Amino acid sequence: MTRQRVFSGVQPTGALHLGNWLGAIRNWVDLQKTHETFFCVVDLHAITTPHNPKELSENTLSTAALYMACGIDPELCTIFIQSHISAHSELCWLLNAVTPLNWMERMIQFKEKAIKQGDNVSVGLLDYPILMAADILLYDTDLVPVGEDQKQHLELARNIAQQRINSRFSVKEEPIFKIPEALIMKEGAKIMSLVDGRNKMSKSDPNDSSRITLLDPPELITKKIKRAKTDSLTGLEFNNPNRPEADNLLGLYSILSGLGRDNVSKECEQMGWGKFKPLLADATVSALEPIQTRYKELIGDKAQLIDILKDGKNAAEVVANSTLNKVRKALGLLDRH
Ligand code: AMP
Ligand code: TRP
Repeated sequence: MTRQRVFSGVQPTGALHLGNWLGAIRNWVDLQKTHETFFCVVDLHAITTPHNPKELSENTLSTAALYMACGIDPELCTIFIQSHISAHSELCWLLNAVTPLNWMERMIQFKEKAIKQGDNVSVGLLDYPILMAADILLYDTDLVPVGEDQKQHLELARNIAQQRINSRFSVKEEPIFKIPEALIMKEGAKIMSLVDGRNKMSKSDPNDSSRITLLDPPELITKKIKRAKTDSLTGLEFNNPNRPEADNLLGLYSILSGLGRDNVSKECEQMGWGKFKPLLADATVSALEPIQTRYKELIGDKAQLIDILKDGKNAAEVVANSTLNKVRKALGLLDRH
């Protein structure tokens, strides 16, 4: 039986943090064993908001290295850089031409990001979800593992594929695109900010103390946890809506220590914050240590890393070009070969 195909990506917009790891990449690591997986560093998405060119290229390479340091294995899956395959931009253009503008203006993430940017909003930011649709549709993807926040973008990709391409341009009932499904991450996947348990841990939070990045050194991790917001109660607990910080930090401890929710619930039931925080700091440092060690090895051998990404590009490009040609033909673009 052929395995179901999975596609996902993260933008190289800054250091990956615990939320990216526990909410996204950790699940990819499981999927690569049972599915045919494509993991992409979406650098073309990263230029839709103002960016620094030097940082972009560094972040692109380091994000790929971090994928692997977290356990994404190039022997099991295809890892590549989005801009290395021109079919992504090209399909994006073809989809642009058939997608109604008012579908785009409804996108929540666009509206949120646009507000932050005032007068400086690029056409690319509006187009971001169509590029994402192109990423997904090029690979005949069955499943797209993403966080809750990306659900609307996935729905858009499905609608473009079904209503704007398949139903209009398919010949003899043979669909051009496979219709992908979102795979929303399992429980415990939403990691909250260290300075406010009601906000998501995010790369774009201006406060560095709000997140722990996968490459933070042990002293910095300990310092950030020491400063993390708490409350005045003794004893930690899950699921108390008035204690979002307790829920988040206990959740982090249960995952990072590997002890699980029941065990840490019991262990920390009567515990004060002063005793809990060093435990969480130690568990975090120990969980990140193997990732950091592996990352240093990978980033220390750039030639090898670049080779892996070339192999990924070559493997992915065959699939992408074949889909692109199918769409070109269906739309009536003259064969270029
Ligand atoms: P982003 O950092 O927004 O580019 O997101 C990359 C991936 O990480 C997406 O699949 C997100 O859903 C996931 N992600 C980002 N922040 C968090 C968080 N705080 N908790 C869980 N998952 C997250
Ligand atoms: N928009 C996604 C995010 O912010 C990143 C992304 C781009 C993506 N292309 C994708 C995720 C294709 C899944 C599939 O997280």
